[in-house]
Order: sequence, then structure tokens, then C-alpha cells
Amino acid sequence: MGRIINYKSNENEVYVEFENGKKLNIEIIDGGIVRIYEPYPNSDFSFAISEKPLGNVSYKINKTHYGIKILTSYLTIRVHDDGEVNFYDLNDALICKEFKGQRVSKDKEDLSILALEGHDANEQDNSHNISILKHINQDDVFYGLGDKTGFLNKKSYYYEMWNTDDPKPHVDCYKSLYKSIPFIICHGNHKPYGIFFDNTYKTFFDIGKENEYCLAIEADEGPYNYYFFAGDTIKDVIGLYTKLTGRCPLPQLWTLGYHQSRWSYENKEELLELTNNFRKYEIPCDTIHLDIDYMDGYRVFTYDDVKFKDMPNIIDSLSKDGFKIVTIIDPGVKVDKDYSIYKVGVENNRFAKTPEGEIYVNEVWPGESVYPTFTNEDTRNWWAQNTKFITSLGVKGIWNDMNEPASFKGPLPDDILFRGDHKNYQHKEIHNVYGHLMAKATYEGLKKHTGKRPFVITRACYAGSQKYTTAWTGDNHSIWAHLQMAIPQLCNLGLSGMPFVGTDVGGFGSDCTSELLIRWVQVGCFSPLFRNHAAKGTRRQEPWTFDQQCLDIYRKYVGLRYALLPYIYDLFVEHQNNGAPVMRPLMYNFENDKNTWELNDEFMVGDKILVAPII
Ligand code: NOJ
Repeated sequence: MGRIINYKSNENEVYVEFENGKKLNIEIIDGGIVRIYEPYPNSDFSFAISEKPLGNVSYKINKTHYGIKILTSYLTIRVHDDGEVNFYDLNDALICKEFKGQRVSKDKEDLSILALEGHDANEQDNSHNISILKHINQDDVFYGLGDKTGFLNKKSYYYEMWNTDDPKPHVDCYKSLYKSIPFIICHGNHKPYGIFFDNTYKTFFDIGKENEYCLAIEADEGPYNYYFFAGDTIKDVIGLYTKLTGRCPLPQLWTLGYHQSRWSYENKEELLELTNNFRKYEIPCDTIHLDIDYMDGYRVFTYDDVKFKDMPNIIDSLSKDGFKIVTIIDPGVKVDKDYSIYKVGVENNRFAKTPEGEIYVNEVWPGESVYPTFTNEDTRNWWAQNTKFITSLGVKGIWNDMNEPASFKGPLPDDILFRGDHKNYQHKEIHNVYGHLMAKATYEGLKKHTGKRPFVITRACYAGSQKYTTAWTGDNHSIWAHLQMAIPQLCNLGLSGMPFVGTDVGGFGSDCTSELLIRWVQVGCFSPLFRNHAAKGTRRQEPWTFDQQCLDIYRKYVGLRYALLPYIYDLFVEHQNNGAPVMRPLMYNFENDKNTWELNDEFMVGDKILVAPII
């Protein structure tokens, strides 16, 4: 970048200019939150941040032999002549410095032969236009990144942020799943820090895989724009991150109870048989989820009046019996000129378009479908208005699925256009926030039409989605490996600011067994969102579908969950106050004890309950 030739400052921002014309801005949001970015158009806007929570923004700035030094109330930021930015505490103890070494570029092998047997022949590509490179110390461990596969400590993994719907069993080396939360925490023999790369395009995280000393956070497009968080503890770092991106509002108590789901309870009779069984077998249950088959031909904001005749009355009588109904709503709107949602959407320019200006059509459950432009406030308001149809049936919460967005006829091309408020966005820019914005629209609709704290459950997320929605980890399988993975996955989601999360108890795909269900409910009853869900065609996994022992154990653990509800509810109050996760890895509570840093098979619920399940 060359030498610093000039710098200017205002109340909370320093603008630095370098010899080669490059500019770098350092914005102080709070003593322990600073934003480092190269100027770009509309840089005050972020999909993740509703309002910048300006705290103690006072700072001092000094010219030094290496460049400039900025002192906030918590941090020392040294900006060097070559553009290097390093972070220290106020006693000049190093927290995080840039990686300056040689990145190892592997000898390229010819991998074409792999494809013959159907292996993946894609090599990791490490040449990106935008790179944030930080030095990894030997003892450093990394957490966060949303719901990635693998172990709790993300060191030596490589991931991509690109919301992905892949129903094959999610194995440790998967690069991406449904959520993109580009926030990583580093802990080691220094003050813990976090980095949030607020760039909604596809981003890449190499956490010491290519080079054990290099954390590489990269992108090919979008802004060079990251937030750096530092505190005395990991709890402080998460507190600051959630102060910036928002926290999960205290949920309604019933949402913390037990949820039962299946793809699908197909008709009124099956639904009533299900709820009767909960009473018969004396298993408490608050919520039943209705998957796509309740709809009329998978048209969103409709229901099948034959299979679910008298839907409002059924829901009303179930509600008198203590059951709440949650229904699924996908983003894909069926192309059907006689269907009002499609018609009104077309008339009002509510759907994504090709660069040539045609409405873009792909395929999901209803067949040919179109994609609402949740990037646009009017579209979100329209969607929120449509939720009235659902709430007027007596439904108490909405489940958002397929919002990566999923598509059956190949991925959406990068250049499909989504109308925004100030500009049109190409798909590649907003892919990762599509589910986030759909959840926001759903949240607003439920809030308006029920007057209650909304219950939304989503599959796709971006940073900050916790303000609007809970989430589940998508299509896991009824395999022991996925029960094991549930613990690090849910713990990392909590560390990434999302406290209200769960996996499908019993597993979604593949067939569950009695023993697996027993072991899963023993984890599920301690996870924040407690829902049993399974795919069409798999063995039934409602609690009574195996043997007596399974039923009795299941009842006992659901009962335990209900006994713990006041405690769990309090943990959500705590989250609201300071961002603390509800389900926590042991390292969150005992961060100075190195033995806890890589524990994958135990977790804490709050700071009073340690769960060490058989997995
Ligand atoms: C995919 C979701 O992940 C799953 O939970 C749901 O059952 C199916 N879609 C059908 O709606």
C-alpha cells in the first residue's frame, strides 16, 4: 500500500490514505468493537445490523514511526505504513496481528482421474481478490462460523459461506450448509477476539488448513469490511458481537416446550391421532408442526380444504387441548395464473427477474415456481401481510424452509436480479441473506397479526438472523455421527449469536432405531429448540413407535425438559441481556481451563447444568 500519506478523523472514525491511493477507514463503534473497511458505496448499510449500537466511541490518535496508533477505551490499533493493522490491549499486549509469511501453495496435482469413480475433483482455490489474513498462534483455537460440520474447534478446517441445501448426509468435510454466519472467535494465550466479515457474497474461511499459521478470510467480490471485537473473556466478545448484530428476543414460554413434527402429518385424522397419542401416552407436547402437505398443491398461504377440512376449527379445538400449530411456508410461489399470491405478486413486481427483465422461474415443491424479492421492503410487507391468512387459521408460528433459496432445476444463476430498496441486487450478492430477509418478513407479519412475540423457525440464516428467528440444522440423518455432531454444531451456533437452535431429534433422513432415539432425546431435551422431525418414507419416530422402554425413557426426558423450563426461560433472559448462548460448550464457562477447549461430547446449559450424554 505504501506509506500513509494522510489521515483525517471525526467523532468516531479515522480515514487513512496510502501512497498508492488506497484508503482504509477505522470506525470505532465501542471500546472493544472497531470496523476496518475500504470505502465502498452505501457503506452505512448492512443486512446484518439494524442500528449501530454506538457505545464509548472516544479515542486518541498518535503519529508514530510505523504509521499511526489509535487508542479506544479498550484497544490499541496500530495501522502501519504498509497497511498492516494489528490489535493490542491498552497495555500493549498483542491480541491479533496480521499474517505476513508466505502462504503455502500446494503443488497442483492432476485430479481428473478422481472423477472416473465419482469422487469430487474440485481443489480448494486460494486465490481471492479480497483477503484478510491473521496470524495463528500455536495454542489458538477457533469457534463460531454458524452451523458448520465437524468438531467444536474449527482450527485446520476450510469452509465456505454459501447457503447450501444438500440432503446427502452432512459429513465433516462439508464446506457449507444452510447458514452463512461469517463470524469467527479466536481464543488462546491472549485476550480473545472475534472477526465478523460483513460481506454477503460467497466468502471463504481457511483456518490454518493451508498454512497452520494463517487464518485466511476471503472473498472475490463485495467489500473489504470487517468488525473486530475484543474483550477480557469469550463472553465479552459474544456480548459485543450480539450487541452489534442483535439478540434473540425473549420467546413465548410454550416455544421452549416439546415440538413434534414429521414430513408430513397428511390429514386431519392423522393429526388428531397424533395429539391423542400424546395424551394417551402421557407425554407433554406443546407444538405440532405441519409440513408441506397441509397446503393446497404446495401453494404457500393456502391449505387443503379436503384433507384438512375445517382447519380453523381443528386448530381451535387442539388449542383448547393445549396444542399449538406451526405451519411451514417456503419462499417458492407456484406459477399458476389462477392463484392469487402469484397473480398479485406478478402485478406488483414482487418476484426476481432475469437480466432481460423476465420473471425468473425455477422449480421447487409446487413445480414451476418464482422467488419473492425479500430484499425489497414492499415485498417484505406484502409477505408479512400474507401471514395474516395463516394466523387467522389460529396458527401460532411459522416455519421457513427451502430459503437458501433451494431450487430443483440447477442453482439460481449469479445474475438473477432481486429488487432492493435502493438498487437491484444480483443473486450472488444476496444469496446468503435470502433466508435472513424472509425470516424478517415472517417475523414482522407474525408480530403484527398476533401481537405476540413471534415464533419463526428457519433453515437459512445470515449474521444477525437471531433477531427474527430460531433455527434448526436442516436435514440431518438418523445416524450416530449426526447425534455426535449435534453438540459442536449447536454450541457453535450459540457462540455465533444464535441461541434458539436445535437439530431434528431422532434424525431427519434414514431410519431411526429405538436406542438412537433414546440417546437423541437425552441430548434434545437440553437443546434450546426441542423438536422431533423425520422425512417422508423413513421409519416413524414418534416416541411410542418403538418399544416400551423407549417410550418410558422418552417420557422421562420430555418431563425433565418441562421441569427445567423456568431455568431455560431465564437463560433466554440472560441471552437478551448479554448475548450468552443457552447451550454452551464447556470452554464458554471455563475458558481458562485448556481441557475444555476441544470438548465435543459434553455441554453446559447455562452455568448450572453439565450434560455428558451417551452419543
Ligand atoms: C426440507 C426440510 O429440511 C425438511 O425439514 C422438510 O421436511 C422438507 N423440506 C419438506 O418440507
